[in-house]
Amino acid sequence: MKARLTFLWVASSLAAVLFASSPLYAQASKEAIVDLSPVPQIHETPAQRDARMQWWRDAKFGMFLHWGPNSLSGKELSWGRDAHRPWDINGVQTPRTEDAYYDNLYKQFNPVKFNAREWVKIAQAAGMKYMVLITKHHDGFSMFDSKLTDYDIMNTPYGRDIVKQFADACHKAGMKLGLYYSTRDWYHPDYLVGDNAKYDKWYRGQVEELLSNYGKVDVIWFDHVGGRDWGKWRFDELFAAMYRLQPGLVINNRAARFCGPATPEDRGPASPEINKMTDGDFGTPEQALGTMDLKHDWESCMTLVGDQWSWKPDGKMYALDEMVGLLVSCVTGGGNLLLNIGPMPTGEIEGRQVALLKQAGDWIKPRAKAIYGTRGGPFANGEWGGSSHHGNTVYVFAKKWQDETLSLPPLPQKIKAARKLIGGGKVAFKQTDKGVELSLPADRRDPIFTVIALTLDQPVPAGTVAGGKR
Ligand code: GLC
Repeated sequence: MKARLTFLWVASSLAAVLFASSPLYAQASKEAIVDLSPVPQIHETPAQRDARMQWWRDAKFGMFLHWGPNSLSGKELSWGRDAHRPWDINGVQTPRTEDAYYDNLYKQFNPVKFNAREWVKIAQAAGMKYMVLITKHHDGFSMFDSKLTDYDIMNTPYGRDIVKQFADACHKAGMKLGLYYSTRDWYHPDYLVGDNAKYDKWYRGQVEELLSNYGKVDVIWFDHVGGRDWGKWRFDELFAAMYRLQPGLVINNRAARFCGPATPEDRGPASPEINKMTDGDFGTPEQALGTMDLKHDWESCMTLVGDQWSWKPDGKMYALDEMVGLLVSCVTGGGNLLLNIGPMPTGEIEGRQVALLKQAGDWIKPRAKAIYGTRGGPFANGEWGGSSHHGNTVYVFAKKWQDETLSLPPLPQKIKAARKLIGGGKVAFKQTDKGVELSLPADRRDPIFTVIALTLDQPVPAGTVAGGKR
């Protein structure tokens, strides 16, 4: 009897051990957490983080590209789809429905004039250092050759992998490559159905495709999940896989955005590790300029034309000074600008947009030193302009003067010289413990902003704001 009991005990323990160590168990269990040791957001030191983020912080200016079969409609990407959006109607689960027009647009999508090298050239001419392309938006259409769905670019009349051409062109030109992926999906039949396990596994498979098939990926840009429930998502599996495939990856803060507490029968509240990972590397103020913040990384994403992300025929476009102003506000406030372009159904970018981007690049390039590789501050930015700094130099972007002068808060470092960045002419300055005053007659100022380089006796410590904290 005793021998039989011992046998049963050994056998059942063995089964438990085998079950627990199998990947199936890890998938099925609501509690099991996979090995997160390669995930930098959890493990890296501040110095390692600075090293991983450096190119991104130095880059300042990127191009966002919202594009897909929907551009044929001229309406907004995904939001122009006239069908129910599970979890995006007041946070309520609604049945998935179709839009007979929108969901069939891919059958006509044939962007024969798409030339990824051309896009990269346009971005370079604008002074952009990275590009982020939609690979799948909320409408569920994959712009890449995905083995996991037929609703993809391979089934359009065009029939060639857009993401591949884009990635190749970026790699060839030394352009940093970013891929946008919307976890939220209003087309997929399994999205948020039941415990969501099917969809969750499927989309992670797509992310793995994106991070396996296109060479080095520098940024992955998620765009929200629906449903208020942590238990419906395996973010631990997602992050472990992403960093196994692309160790240096930079990730935005929307991989788990809109997930609320799990229901009791699920996994319970997210662990601190999950929150730390899914908060990602940078904040994403949308259609708004980030307020100055030198302590956290952030990137404003804004549309160049109107308030629409995908192509809008005849939409109102920013003027050159406004567009340069957006960039300067981000740079001086400690962030990046991801400026969105909506290519046309043909695959081309509108001529008027190309021309404006080029003009912006022509303004930026002679002022490159004051932009790329700098950090925001030390002067708090505002209506008057802003500042950036690098080494012993502070770059003042002056816009609004009071008559001939610009009054700035006190600076602890000593100013040794003040010169215009363009042309190098001297700028008169007065420095006291009450503040700094720069003077320049109106006829010596430059268009949009006058950039003035202040040479200091020592560097500005990172993250400090002159005359007050932020
Ligand atoms: C929002 C919108 C989406 C857009 C994104 C860009 O999440 O839903 O359409 O692509 O912002 O930041």
